[in-house]
Amino acid sequence: MLISLLSNWFHLLPMITQQPFNPSPSPASISFSETWHLLGPFQIGTREATWGADPLEQIGGFRSLSYNESDSYRSSLAVNGTVGWSTLTAESSSSAGNPGNAKAELLVRFDNTDWQSLQSVYGWAALQYQGWARGKITVGGNQQRTVVFYTDQVLEFWIDDEHQFGGDFYGYRRAPLVLHLGPGNHQIDIRITRDVRAMGGVGEPTVRIGLEAEISEGGLKLVEGTVLLPDMVDGRLVSSLGSVNLRNEEHHWIDVLSLEAVNVSFTLAMKENPPFRLAPGQSRPLSFDVALAYDAAAEVVFEITYKVEHSTEVIRTSQVRQAVHSREAEEPQKVTYLHPGGIVSYAILRPPSAKALRYACPNASLAVVIGLHGAGVETDSDLVRQTFKDAPDLKAWVLFPSGVTTWSGDDWHRWGSADTEAAIAAIPEWIKTVGWNGPNADINRRLVTGHSNGGQGVWYALTHTPDNIVGATPVSGYSSIQAYVPYSFWYEADPGVNAILQSALADYRHELLLPNGCGIPIHQQHGSLDDNVPPFHSRRLSQIQSQIDCPSEYVELPGKGHWFQGVMTTQTLLEFYAKVLGDRPAPASLSSSFDIVVANPGTMGSKGGIIVDQLTTPGRPGRIKAEHDVKQSIWHLKTSNIHRLHFSAAAARDWTRSKLVVDGKKLELLRDVPLSGQWLVHRPNESWEVSCDSLWRNRQRHGRQLGALDAMLDTSGRYMLLTSSETLSLAVQVSRNFFQYFGADAEVIGPDQLNPTEGGNRVIMSLGSAGLMPATAGRHDTIFVDEKKGLCVRGSNGRLAVYAFTEGLGAIFLRPGTNGSLELVIWAFDLLGLRFAARMVPMLTGVGQPDFIVVGQECAWKGAAGVVALGHLDNSWNVAESSAIL
Ligand SMILES: *[C@@H]1O[C@H](CO)[C@@H](O)[C@H](O)[C@H]1NC(C)=O
Ligand SMILES: *[C@@H]1O[C@H](CO)[C@@H](O)[C@H](O)[C@H]1NC(C)=O
Ligand SMILES: *[C@@H]1O[C@H](CO)[C@@H](O)[C@H](O)[C@H]1NC(C)=O
Ligand SMILES: *[C@@H]1O[C@H](CO)[C@@H](O)[C@H](O)[C@H]1NC(C)=O
Ligand SMILES: *[C@@H]1O[C@H](CO)[C@@H](O)[C@H](O)[C@H]1NC(C)=O
Ligand SMILES: *[C@@H]1O[C@H](CO)[C@@H](O)[C@H](O)[C@H]1NC(C)=O
Repeated sequence: MLISLLSNWFHLLPMITQQPFNPSPSPASISFSETWHLLGPFQIGTREATWGADPLEQIGGFRSLSYNESDSYRSSLAVNGTVGWSTLTAESSSSAGNPGNAKAELLVRFDNTDWQSLQSVYGWAALQYQGWARGKITVGGNQQRTVVFYTDQVLEFWIDDEHQFGGDFYGYRRAPLVLHLGPGNHQIDIRITRDVRAMGGVGEPTVRIGLEAEISEGGLKLVEGTVLLPDMVDGRLVSSLGSVNLRNEEHHWIDVLSLEAVNVSFTLAMKENPPFRLAPGQSRPLSFDVALAYDAAAEVVFEITYKVEHSTEVIRTSQVRQAVHSREAEEPQKVTYLHPGGIVSYAILRPPSAKALRYACPNASLAVVIGLHGAGVETDSDLVRQTFKDAPDLKAWVLFPSGVTTWSGDDWHRWGSADTEAAIAAIPEWIKTVGWNGPNADINRRLVTGHSNGGQGVWYALTHTPDNIVGATPVSGYSSIQAYVPYSFWYEADPGVNAILQSALADYRHELLLPNGCGIPIHQQHGSLDDNVPPFHSRRLSQIQSQIDCPSEYVELPGKGHWFQGVMTTQTLLEFYAKVLGDRPAPASLSSSFDIVVANPGTMGSKGGIIVDQLTTPGRPGRIKAEHDVKQSIWHLKTSNIHRLHFSAAAARDWTRSKLVVDGKKLELLRDVPLSGQWLVHRPNESWEVSCDSLWRNRQRHGRQLGALDAMLDTSGRYMLLTSSETLSLAVQVSRNFFQYFGADAEVIGPDQLNPTEGGNRVIMSLGSAGLMPATAGRHDTIFVDEKKGLCVRGSNGRLAVYAFTEGLGAIFLRPGTNGSLELVIWAFDLLGLRFAARMVPMLTGVGQPDFIVVGQECAWKGAAGVVALGHLDNSWNVAESSAIL
């Protein structure tokens, strides 16, 4: 029944003539041109490219220009204010004499700019730029070929008339593009986007772009080297989940039917009920359960069966083998678990050593040391496993979450910290699985450590889950993405637009959230010669901490750089670990006064047992000042911009014993209702009251629905991507970007295939002036399409802003989904608008997309400065007039 709907989708595409599995008669060959034409550089701001902001778009786009030595274009970066074309020779090679594979490396540099002088004024922001490169890809022979195309360090490109946004900015190679190219030449236009965080800020500002094209024989590709399996200890798998990446290299849909172990050493079973579907060109991770049937097997061998749409033939993939590693019980070992996004992830776990246990009671619970890796670091590596080699006997469980990807998806924020939580929850599972009879893990007592991007992740954990943290050691960490590379080169926008972008990022502005970490021991370490993350970051945070009267230990290592062997086990760090992990302290009592700053209640855990559920005005931080009058046994809470809060059960002792005064009003907690069932609510008439109405969550925005557009990364279950035939290729692009950048799984389905109880957050794409698909839960009359008028946005005061249908008009916004989930609606009047809107789907950090954005043609060249409307939505899903521009 599913198949009948979807089988009609592809009649518009040229049908492939060859049989995918018959090697074709004419030799398959592919190559890149050696000569490329370059145009640039033009200015661009940190992470601005997502918004468009390409100056050439104002004159029809790079694709409309042709090479001409005598043409010049205005550029603020170049000498004389103009740039012209230049040529670049690619370093290309066919790999290992295989004519079906071509590689090209482009080393882009622009000499028509005085980088030093710009940098001396604008810093690293001046070493970021954009430009374009044009070359060719040539398919030999006389027939159409399927080509798998990798684009390292590229965000955006065109192949002939096809636009692609997403690419592979960090060179993950997880989700290449699958193309169908006819014989002959094809034009490739590559947008060059230089980014200091990804490419460095030292030396000449070059960009090294890597392209690879490989001719495919079609079919379902079981991607080698992507099999994820747990380690084995004492002949037992330490966990029971695995996964493998699949890629559909057909023109048609593929249904995966089964996953089968080739011999009987292991039993394997797909997690999802078959069929597991892949759209044409789509990549997805397939999760499975794995168990050992006989011990002592050193490898898993399996194959997959599938069917291609329109065919009844059941095809087997070739066999894949993956070694299973045996570890000693005390060694760091790979544990797999389910990430809330419905995918299998892994962490490296080091149980406490025998020596560490010698003096521990068997019924004790040891804290967890969490090690967050830096950008581009693979967790399953010696580098990570050996991090605490010089601290073999820490009285703790040591856990290195992977964050799913080497950049932990979103810098250890929503997607990455969800992975950390899932990894922590896997420790009790591990204890059961391996039959460990030593001390337990106290998973709510955490010492967070991390290096570089992971050091920044420590600040995030510290400021967002303070009640679970017993100590924090950010090493060589940056203070926030806003401070890493200044945002000064963005296209000049209305200050109100900038305010909204910055407020969408406020939850990651650790400098603002530092009061949350007060009272927790912090030890910062930074090399004085660090030129990757300058020590300024740690010095600045240390200074702010002393100003707000919660000092941290700060050690600056003279003459040391960003990283060195033993960076996480210097003498002072070892002493700090020992101090924090010492014998279990008496149960902590609340300090008699503390502050809370909440930028987004959706990501903020409890502090002092207080959990903020909602702010009054979204987009502005809320604050609480808590003071205990011990003599009179009264807790005074002074709040600002807080709408609703409650107390954690863990802190019941503190909050039920004392009287409570909130903003001057005495409140009585109810004795006969559990703390988790009562809320303190700030009414519009300025008075606070205690409410037991738990149904508020059915009507109002709450939990993981809160935050800006990147709240989408907080999903419980894989993404569902609802699309129609017209928007299918863009939907596959969105799913590819989710997979490439987060390792996330997005299933592409037709609008009538939605099972309301299945999956996590949804992406809904629709095109044209007919109305939007109604929201599955709650209201959907804030942003809607009126066939006669245009796109309508209702402000909280009832005013309706109407945007008439015009070329390039599009919108992307959040709506409530069922059961606390989210829907991300991507709508546009035409395909041009849909391409603009779709590029706003969260992918890179630091972009700053608020809850709703209405895009228009001007975004292409002005970026965010060209938006039609944007802003935040309040607790009732209305436009928050005070944090929006309509
Ligand atoms: C290049 O531009 C110049 C000046 O606009 C024009 O005269 C010339 O014909 C162009 N050359 C080509 C090959 O288009
Ligand atoms: C300098 O800029 C002017 C336009 O302002 C342009 O006509 C001229 O060709 C440029 N000179 C060079 C050397 O690029
Ligand atoms: C499993 O299959 C592989 C490949 O067919 C073979 O080498 C291996 O010996 C088999 N193991 C067992 C336990 O049957
Ligand atoms: C551990 O067990 C001992 C003896 O059975 C008991 O006295 C002690 O209270 C226990 N400690 C904890 C933390 O449960
Ligand atoms: C505030 O409004 C609530 C209803 O929303 C009402 O019960 C309460 O009496 C009001 N308080 C004051 C001081 O007006
Ligand atoms: C709603 O979510 C809760 C908790 O996340 C879950 O237990 C429940 O099964 C969900 N209900 C539906 C209908 O999906």
